[in-house]
Order: sequence, then structure tokens, then C-alpha cells
Amino acid sequence: MSIQEKVEQNIGLLIILVICVISVGGLVQIVPLFFQTSTTLPVEGLKPYSALQLAGRDIYIREGCVGCHSQMIRPFRAETERYGHYSTAGEFIYDRPFLWGSKRTGPDLHRVGQRYSDDWHIAHLMNPRDVVPESIMPSYPWLAENDLDSSVIQQRMEGLRYLGHPYSDKQINEAAESFKGKKEIDAVVAYLQSLGTALKGI
Ligand code: HEC
Repeated sequence: MSIQEKVEQNIGLLIILVICVISVGGLVQIVPLFFQTSTTLPVEGLKPYSALQLAGRDIYIREGCVGCHSQMIRPFRAETERYGHYSTAGEFIYDRPFLWGSKRTGPDLHRVGQRYSDDWHIAHLMNPRDVVPESIMPSYPWLAENDLDSSVIQQRMEGLRYLGHPYSDKQINEAAESFKGKKEIDAVVAYLQSLGTALKGI
């Protein structure tokens, strides 16, 4: 009996060998990425989210925006012509967790930063139909009513600093103070306006 026949007739051995082949193939693809600076270092000019942007990001997560919006422009012409430069790994170094998403009921948002005015975003979040008549996006009017919660922002930033985000003591100490008089919608807009801007102009 040839080796091939032996393997094919022994299902246990076949399973083990298939797992070995897939594991080696996976490692060969994945492990080099750990050592490539283009995937492990932030792109030039990338800053960790400010306190306000970070709070806006948390609200984006709470409201489930990621269920309808991706933040991942693929390197295809149809995408880059519509959204701008494709997303690169170094732009997501300060994203915990990643919000790449996988569903595009609405457009990708990775390069939406600075594309519209703050006023446009506020009007759009209050009632998308006011600015895009055919829109099916839900309205989020409570974002303009809710005061921005500053109770945990300092701990959030300290936690992120522990994980390597370069926040200064000053940024952390002034975080709660900078939320005074701000509504949740201000934080969401600040976050949206920051998206994908580190790589603009390429
Ligand atoms: C049910 C799906 C759905 C959800 C949930 C949703 N959106 Fe949208 N969004 C859309 C659709 C559809 C559009 C395109 C029409 C429009 O501009 O309103 C859109 C458009 C947008 C745009 C304009 C993008 C562009 O390039 O013109 C922004 C910004 C946006 N959404 C932000 C948000 C934020 C922030 C949240 C969460 C608070 C959110 N969306 C939740 C469906 C959704």
C-alpha cells in the first residue's frame, strides 16, 4: 500500500495531517505580518483619539452604527474612487476594538472625516431625511439631549495608555473638564470628523 492510500484510508490520520497543512499555511501567511512595520506601526501623523473623539467612538459603538457602516476601504478601484485612499493597517493602531464592520447598509465611513461640516453631521444625525431625502438611516435625536458622561473618561484613557496609546498626563487630567457643556452629539461629530484624516492627501 502506498503512503497516499494509507493516509486516505485512515480518517484519523487524514484529519491530523490536514490540520497540520492548514496550520503551516496559515502561519506562513500571518506570522510575517507581526514583523512588518507597515502593519505594526502607526502611519505618520496618526494621533490617538482625543478625549472627545474617544467618547464619541464609544457612543458610535453603543448606538450600533457599525451594524450599517463599515470603516474599511478595500483596494479596488470602485471603492477608492468613491471613498478615497484604501485603508491601511497603520491607521488602526489606536482602534480598540476595531470597527471595520462587515455590513454596508450605509456607505463606508473610513474617510468621512472633514468631508462635511459639523452642522451637516448634526442635522444628519437629528434626522437624516433633512439632508438626504431618500435616506433610510435612523434618527438619533437623543444624542443632542444627553449630556456627555465624563465619569469614566480618565480611566478609559489611562487604560489605553497602559496598552501603549501615547496620552500625556495633561490630556488625561483635562479630559473630564473638556466635556463640560458638551452633548453626546458633539462627541460623535468630533469622532466622525477625525476618521481617516491621518492619510488624507495621498
Ligand atoms: C439602519 C442602518 C444605519 C444605521 C444603524 C446607521 N446608519 Fe448612517 N447611514 C445609513 C445609510 C443608508 C446612509 C446613506 C444615506 C444618508 O446619507 O443618510 C447613511 C449615511 C451616513 C453618513 C454619511 C456618509 C456619507 O459619506 O455621505 C454618516 C456620517 C453616517 N451615516 C453616520 C452614522 C452614525 C454616526 C450612526 C450611528 C449613530 C449611523 N450612521 C447609523 C444607514 C445607517
